[in-house]
Amino acid sequence: MKENQPSGTAQRVAMRRAAHQLLDDPKVFDDPVALRIIGKESASALKADPHQYEATPLAPYLRAFVAARSRYAEDELALGIQRGVRQYVILGAGLDTFAYRNPYPEGVLHAFEVDFPSTQTWKRARLEETAITLPSDLTFAAVDFETQTLEEGLQRAGYDSSKCTFFSWLGVTEYLTTEVVMATLSFIASAPVGSGIVFDYMISPSLLTPTQRSSFDALSQRVASAGEPWKAFFDPELLTRDLRAMGFRHVEDNGPEEINTRYFENRKDGLRVGSLSRIMKAQL
Ligand SMILES: C[S@@+](CC[C@H](N)C(=O)[O-])C[C@H]1O[C@@H](n2cnc3c(N)ncnc32)[C@H](O)[C@@H]1O
Repeated sequence: MKENQPSGTAQRVAMRRAAHQLLDDPKVFDDPVALRIIGKESASALKADPHQYEATPLAPYLRAFVAARSRYAEDELALGIQRGVRQYVILGAGLDTFAYRNPYPEGVLHAFEVDFPSTQTWKRARLEETAITLPSDLTFAAVDFETQTLEEGLQRAGYDSSKCTFFSWLGVTEYLTTEVVMATLSFIASAPVGSGIVFDYMISPSLLTPTQRSSFDALSQRVASAGEPWKAFFDPELLTRDLRAMGFRHVEDNGPEEINTRYFENRKDGLRVGSLSRIMKAQL
């Protein structure tokens, strides 16, 4: 991330979530704020021609993955609420809209949006521009994961470490170093029993087939030239082992088979996720 510059990928994935609302039936992730949060101009252009932004061969796979990871995180959050989760920490929130459509009764769930400082400033300006009301049960915490610890950032924001907490970290780990990802996960592993996290991650390029590798290379070049290069990749088996060693008792790694079976079965449009990224759930 470049200092004083908001994340460009945050707008891009938000555009995919918005396109999903317009292009895909049935929706995997229903987000009534998705079009508004991308800004008036982008929303009008997308509505006028939703296919124009989604025209590349990889676009439907990326759109499906962006929709599926948010759906999975919020499905797991719902299960967490039944276990006593009372704080939801959205790491690298970008233009995530959960806090502005929080379905739980007031006082049940406090949301924290943690993000790179300039992305967060940009989002707050966007919320104002689009007249999206800030709920009382939301706190912003500006944190650069590479130079500050999540623990310090959350403490400053009033996070209560004694409360059962659910974390999501969607579309972020690949932009950080492996050390930062592992240190952040270790901190989350110190949360009370019943807490947990859902995050997605990219598979180590060495584990990819030649066809997967060419998609990986194309996407990797695109993000690097936009100034947000991918840095961290994981081997699913080793990551699962490391999470268990940190103390997570329930670890569930979801690859394309699991995700497609869970969310994309029997669709007429053939929408499905590809195989470069996976979604991990780790619960204490
Ligand atoms: C691809 S966007 C994903 C946004 C959001 N989670 C979503 O799914 O729409 C990546 C997010 O990671 C954040 N990010 C990247 N590097 C970061 C860092 N070093 N510290 C904090 N946030 C970071 C960006 O600001 C951006 O919001």
